[in-house]
Amino acid sequence: MMFHDRTPARHRPPAPEPLRKPLGTIPLLLAMRRNPLGTWTRAHYDELILHGQSIIGEICVVSDPVGIRQVLVDNVANYRKDDLQQRLLGPGLADGLLLAEDEMWRRQRRLLAHLFTPRVVAAYKPAMVESAHWLVDRWQRQREGRVIDIARDLSRVTLNVLERTIFPEGLGRDPAEFIHAVTDYFETAGRVDPLDLLRLPDWLPRLGRARSKPALDFFAEAVNAIIAKRRASLDAGTVTTERPDLLSALLSAADPETGAGLSEREIQANILTFIGAGHETTANALTWTLYLLGTHPHWRAQAEAEADGLLRQTSGAPSPEEAPIIRAVLEEAMRLYPPAATLTRDAIEADVICGQRIRAGTRVVISPWLVHRHHKLWTDADLFDPSRFLPGAREKIDRFAFLPFGGGPRICIGMGFAMQEAVILLAHVLKNFRLDPSEGLAPKPVQRVTLRPDGGMPMALRRRQ
Ligand code: HEM
Repeated sequence: MMFHDRTPARHRPPAPEPLRKPLGTIPLLLAMRRNPLGTWTRAHYDELILHGQSIIGEICVVSDPVGIRQVLVDNVANYRKDDLQQRLLGPGLADGLLLAEDEMWRRQRRLLAHLFTPRVVAAYKPAMVESAHWLVDRWQRQREGRVIDIARDLSRVTLNVLERTIFPEGLGRDPAEFIHAVTDYFETAGRVDPLDLLRLPDWLPRLGRARSKPALDFFAEAVNAIIAKRRASLDAGTVTTERPDLLSALLSAADPETGAGLSEREIQANILTFIGAGHETTANALTWTLYLLGTHPHWRAQAEAEADGLLRQTSGAPSPEEAPIIRAVLEEAMRLYPPAATLTRDAIEADVICGQRIRAGTRVVISPWLVHRHHKLWTDADLFDPSRFLPGAREKIDRFAFLPFGGGPRICIGMGFAMQEAVILLAHVLKNFRLDPSEGLAPKPVQRVTLRPDGGMPMALRRRQ
């Protein structure tokens, strides 16, 4: 197969300009709340490790793949999810897999891993194709050339996938309400509060915390209803799903030694974790991919040609390995716009990372956003060039220089699921439609919990002949 990069003019995808020097205390606190991406300095894109004192204490930003491997794999027992994440997301997610630690994390990970084995993920293909048809039908009903917010529709379709796979009995609420509540929760709870950054006590009221309460109340109610419905079906013996699903796994979990199940709080937190972690992330990856294809028509043409061929051959459900161009485009989009833009940990004991001595309690920041745009790790780091991820080139990328899904034992449990889902949805969209950025569109990436385009992604929708 031939791959071509005939880039006519090099379009630089939007990103905040790196600062020349670090911000002072108050501007930094405000910028962190507005958009953490805007706080990185030139040095962060040039140096592989930066370590020093800051207003929040000792902080070490690690972009060196060797240091990243040490934190995420080799010395993983010395690093725990940092207390900022716990403070931001704890109110909804504290007892779920994403934030759990130690024995609680091991127990939950073991329990949920069987929902995401390659065999089970492959069995989700027909459901993902149904969701793709759902989106295509929805868009077929739109007027030719109409400008739509693809970010919103892609959020809907990824939630639709979760409903058909790991929540097969549905969410019992209008999906639009769910998306609204998830967006609200991340938008408010996910804004970094200066009081949290300064590690001030919890009893001081936070700006976003009060505003995220309605979203949390909505979830609590919805999730309790989902659990009650499933418990009733289990008691009545009417659960007939052939595929493993999240709720059954959570409700029937039993510790091999004690026979104890998960607590009600753990079950609730995991349902919210999977909705939160599993739909916004994938929706944002798809949104940025379609935007980048809209601004790079020569790559779009190649991806369209691949989609046309694949949908003829694979009963509509190509796997990522069967779609090298679509996969490369998606991975390059996640390099430039990693849905999870920062991974943070706190060091339990002192350690030495790439020659830098760090003390116990140091906040270690691994930012896929920085690592993926680092001048020492990538050529033309800010430009969109999917050929980096084509077979032959991809194998040469350092495993710890590209981490959209993290790495080590806490790597995203949904990685295979997300890649398969994204490739299937993209193939169907590319086969049927062409999306162009609306007039003058310059989307601004903002980091809340996920990396999203501020104000959505308006694009003009046209049918392909
Ligand atoms: C493009 C889509 C996705 C991206 C970029 C992504 C990214 C990530 C990253 C970077 C982590 C590690 C966080 C850390 O180490 O601090 C993570 C963890 C996690 N992800 Fe994903 N994710 C995606 C899709 C999904 C999906 C579809 C699901 C579930 C259906 C999911 C569920 C989770 C869970 C439960 C964890 C916590 C795992 C643990 O700590 O053991 N994610 N994800």
